[in-house]
Order: sequence, then structure tokens, then C-alpha cells
Amino acid sequence: MGGLVEGKVAVVTGAGGGIGRAASQIFAREGAKVVVADIKVEGGEETVKLIQDAGGTAMFMRCDVSKAADCEALVNAAVVNYGSLDCAFNNAGVEGDPSKLADATEENFMLNYNVNILGVFLCMKYQIKQMLTQENGGAIVNTASDAGLIGVKNLGQYSAAKHAVVGLTKSGALDYAPKKIRINAVCPGPIRTQMLQRVFDENPKMAEVMVSAQPNKRLGEPSEIGDAAVYLCSDMASYITGHALPVDGGYMAT
Ligand SMILES: NC(=O)c1ccc[n+]([C@@H]2O[C@H](COP(=O)([O-])OP(=O)(O)OC[C@H]3O[C@@H](n4cnc5c(N)ncnc54)[C@H](O)[C@@H]3O)[C@@H](O)[C@H]2O)c1
Repeated sequence: MGGLVEGKVAVVTGAGGGIGRAASQIFAREGAKVVVADIKVEGGEETVKLIQDAGGTAMFMRCDVSKAADCEALVNAAVVNYGSLDCAFNNAGVEGDPSKLADATEENFMLNYNVNILGVFLCMKYQIKQMLTQENGGAIVNTASDAGLIGVKNLGQYSAAKHAVVGLTKSGALDYAPKKIRINAVCPGPIRTQMLQRVFDENPKMAEVMVSAQPNKRLGEPSEIGDAAVYLCSDMASYITGHALPVDGGYMAT
């Protein structure tokens, strides 16, 4: 019995830790060859080692998703080393500095814009170009957020960027549905990663506040987002495209 993505080639951005690392490990466990991409070399190489130690196939590619040349080179790395690009998980993201809109800086806006929106757009652009050359197309999953579906106090710029990710996902799905390219998004709730830890370090009360707001009374694990991303990239999800899937313990149902 093969895995969910047996024989496929996957690219994962922001794979040097957190959700991206967990997703890379699941892609590899489920049979994909994985190109692990991150702006941080050390974290990315550690992810590759974890995969290889578990018997999987992976390579690291340094990539700043806000740079077009890096995104193009990432796709080329998948094709040159592993022969195709079947699955892409565009997950790299930054939270920036929280503040109310009138106190927010242009610099923070541009950080959110460059990584969370432009980065996803550039990745998708080069991934789609490659997938259009492939008989079986491909599948793309972008990491948005619950903050891409609803407004969040003090996170206007992040929320705006994540809403844009949902817009790119839905519109791209319509553009390429006839070409066998599926494009979906995952919308995580609060997930136990460095990103959330930084929020808790800033404001320790937030841990309790977030957990008590969760219908299931716990934070999510990075692997729970990875599972959803790998499923959406797999042939099990062959009729799902243009969807923004909350993976949030029920928060969006509240
Ligand atoms: N953790 C949560 O609660 C949560 C909730 C909703 C959405 N998200 C989203 O999930 C994704 C992953 O976040 P995480 O929680 O694993 O955070 P994380 O900070 O642990 O990991 C993010 C990774 O992205 C990398 N990265 C940052 N800028 C980059 C760039 N320009 N190019 C390439 N890589 C870059 C970082 O080096 C890091 O390894 C993000 O898009 C985030 O917005 C997280």
C-alpha cells in the first residue's frame, strides 16, 4: 500500500520549523520527495535531517518567498532534482507587530505584504507555470488563517494579508480548474509553534485566553495542519478546489 502522496514531488515553504516542518515530515512519510524551503538555513537543514533519519527523501533549498528569483529557483530545484512538481504547500508567513491600525507602521504593513501576500503570489506563479507543463497538473495549498476569514483586533495588517491569500486561492482555483491544477487554503486556528510562542512571550495571559475561546479547549498541533495540507494535495481531495478550510478546533463555528 502506498502513502497518500506516494511518488509525488512536494515543495513546502516556511519548512524550517512549526507547521511547515510538520507538513514536510508528513509529505515524506506519505511517500513524497520533499523540497524543504525556508529563509533560515539551519531550521531547514534540520527538517531535512529529521526526514532522512526517518527514511524519507528530502533536500533543502534556501528561499525568501518575497523574491521572485528565489521562488522560480525553488520550482526548478524540484524539477531538476526530483523530476516534477506535483504538490506545493505555500506556508511561509510572518505575524509582524500587533497594534491597532492607527498605531501601525508602514514598515509592518510592508512586511506583511511582502511575505504573506507577495510571497504566496510569487510561489503560485512559478508553481502554476510548471504544473501547466505536466500532464497531471498538480495541487497547491496556501496557508491562510482564521484571520483570513474574520477580523482580529490588533492584527489588521496580518488579517488583511491572510484575506488576500484566500482571494488568491479562490481566484487561482477558478483560473486553473480546467487545467487539472487544484488550489486550496488551510486556515489554522491557534497552533503550538514559535509564532504563537512569540505572542505568549509578549502577553502571557493570551495562552489562557486563546485556549478558553476554543470550542475544544486546546491549542492545535503543527501536524494537525500538516495532515490537512497533505490531504488537500493528495488524490483523495481530487474534487476539492477553491476551498479555504478552517483547521481550528471549531473556532469558526462559534
Ligand atoms: N501558529 C499559529 O497559530 C498560526 C495560525 C494561523 C496561521 N498561521 C500561519 O501558518 C504559517 C506557518 O506559521 P508557524 O506557526 O509554523 O510559524 P513559524 O514562525 O514557526 O514558522 C514560519 C516559518 O516561515 C519562515 N519564513 C519567514 N519569512 C520567510 C520568507 N520570507 N521566506 C521563506 N520562509 C520564511 C520562518 O523562517 C519560519 O521557519 C504562517 O503562514 C502563519 O501565518 C499560524
